[in-house]
Amino acid sequence: MTRLVHMSDIHFERVDPVVVEALRAEINADPPDLIIVSGDLTQHAYRHEYRAAGAFLRSLNAPVLAVPGNHDITYIHLAQRFLDPYARWRRFISREIEPTWTDDTVAVVGLNTARRMAWGFDWSKGRFGLRQLHRLNKRFEALPKELFRIVVAHHPLHAPEHAPDLDIVGRADEALACFRKNGVGLVLAGHLHRGYVHAHEIAQEGLPPLLVIQASTATSTRLRGEPNAYHRLEVDKSGTVALEVRAWDGRAWRQVATREQGARRPKDEPGDFHRPQVVEVAGRENAPAGLG
Ligand SMILES: [Fe+2]
Repeated sequence: MTRLVHMSDIHFERVDPVVVEALRAEINADPPDLIIVSGDLTQHAYRHEYRAAGAFLRSLNAPVLAVPGNHDITYIHLAQRFLDPYARWRRFISREIEPTWTDDTVAVVGLNTARRMAWGFDWSKGRFGLRQLHRLNKRFEALPKELFRIVVAHHPLHAPEHAPDLDIVGRADEALACFRKNGVGLVLAGHLHRGYVHAHEIAQEGLPPLLVIQASTATSTRLRGEPNAYHRLEVDKSGTVALEVRAWDGRAWRQVATREQGARRPKDEPGDFHRPQVVEVAGRENAPAGLG
């Protein structure tokens, strides 16, 4: 069994330092096999923000796999944005922007959906590239077939049920088709600062749904109606995924109430697929005082 921590949108330095310290203490008290960070490590891609994010991640007692988000490429220094947008990423976080990590149970593949430019004025929207997906086929071909396949990207592949008009990543359908074809069982993403789970139906008989798990922001003070939260996941060789959402209640991290999401899944779905233990991120009305 492989134990993972998934956190997203940590946005140094727009963070609550109390939350950061408590998160560090909690993770280091029970470190997972791998910590996954699905983008937006900084707020404005400033050097001091990158330095703080890198120092935080290196203070955690587990390997870290991180992919960039839209906030991690500068929109202030345009020359840098267009010529070498990941220079600070490579200096302070990792040489890789699309890393891979494997053990004897899982293969985790990072994908970069941040783009230095987009049609229109909103450059925060992410997109999968066609060549990128083509390369992904090759990456999966090279990975052992028996490993449970996990993809990490910043931008969401589905909108939350209660806010269906929110933007999702460009070429989401093509990406999901590519993931399905390559036997991906789990996608981890962020960006919206909202936690929800979507079971993406797979037309092909006999295949379990592709589980897409979106994380809220773990440490940022820019909350979108939900408290800070992060995920602990356990994945075993049969592809069973257990998810625990841990939210900040104003004093401590605690597991929050259980609810299954992904309502677009038919009720009579056949399945030897083990539904994950999905635990709800408290909504604004349930959030402890002072949050949301
Ligand atoms: Fe983002």
